[in-house]
Amino acid sequence: MHDSPFLRACRRLPVSRTPVWFMRQAGRSLPEYRRVRADVPMLEACARPDMIVEITMQPVRRYDVDAAIYFSDIVLPLKAIGVDLDIRSGVGPVVAEPVRDADAITRLRDLEPDDVGYVSEAVGQLVEELDGRPLIGFAGGPFTLASYLIEGGPSKNHEHTKALMYGAPKLWDDLMRRLSGITLEFLKVQLAAGASAVQLFDSWVGALSAADYRASVLPHTSWIFERLGEFDAPRIHFGVGTGELLGLLSEAGADVVGVDWRVPLDSAAQRVQPGTALQGNLDPAALFAPWEVIAERTRDILDRGRASDGHIFNLGHGVLPTTDPDTLARLTEFVHEETRH
Ligand code: CP3
Repeated sequence: MHDSPFLRACRRLPVSRTPVWFMRQAGRSLPEYRRVRADVPMLEACARPDMIVEITMQPVRRYDVDAAIYFSDIVLPLKAIGVDLDIRSGVGPVVAEPVRDADAITRLRDLEPDDVGYVSEAVGQLVEELDGRPLIGFAGGPFTLASYLIEGGPSKNHEHTKALMYGAPKLWDDLMRRLSGITLEFLKVQLAAGASAVQLFDSWVGALSAADYRASVLPHTSWIFERLGEFDAPRIHFGVGTGELLGLLSEAGADVVGVDWRVPLDSAAQRVQPGTALQGNLDPAALFAPWEVIAERTRDILDRGRASDGHIFNLGHGVLPTTDPDTLARLTEFVHEETRH
């Protein structure tokens, strides 16, 4: 397992080929996913080990990806502590009563391992079935979770979230501490059950200026990453539109920083702390262009990735639902062939 190209690249060791996996590799782009999910609501699927194992394995059967990612959702731990929320297809997480005052924040209790026993069970089964291929565990970052809770659903401008952050710093701090505790516990459950690495998705944190990120989010993310240090598992950190924040994302304690498609990897390498590996960063929309274009862009990413200290090939954000799975299969092979030595 420690010899896997994915874990070696995370640790910035030489690799036999550049490792590949795709954010959202499981999910609606796969007909076999749509089939098993047809009669099962998203959050119910995330609480059933049989569904979790099947859906996590689906992309591994199709593509020669170098890692699997645990099937769940960033809002699952919030559901597990009793927040009334749902995931609506085509919309995303929707929270029945948005969290905007001290009372609502106080009601967010800690996550206990027993709340998510099915996670330990599913991870254990997956580690066995993956037979040496690493499993990536994940959780949502505190800003992104706060945004869903405060806005009550997906948000373009995060106005209520920023109003609380800017206008009520003590409340914000309390909320971030609670969410960081929940996130840490959710990641620890996955690592204790055998996950080999974790990715913290603070997907919407690119909405913040560097100064606001440093003051209001970074201390909490650092707290999470520091406490994960007891596990010998690489910590990946990713957000969308974070070009201006890449240095701070690595400063928070990430071993690997995920880069979206807006920043070339050689520029990203100059923005992160020395000793940070990079993950990314083909535009997921590029997969709808002719193959020659995809190949050319991929070669360019692999070239620029050589400027970094360890490169894991991925998209710059999740696989779009209408992506042709055969394109991802071909892309995986292509990256492996181009980088094999
Ligand atoms: O293969 C994988 O990458 C693992 C699965 C995964 C899901 N959600 C499954 C899912 C992961 C890693 C996530 C994380 C997640 N969820 C993030 C961070 C990653 C990112 O995209 O930045 C965020 C922001 C969410 C919140 C969320 N949940 C959104 C925006 C959506 C999509 C809503 C929609 O239908 O367009 C979801 C639902 C969701 N999570 C689906 C899947 C497969 C679709 C549910 C369905 O099949 O109906």
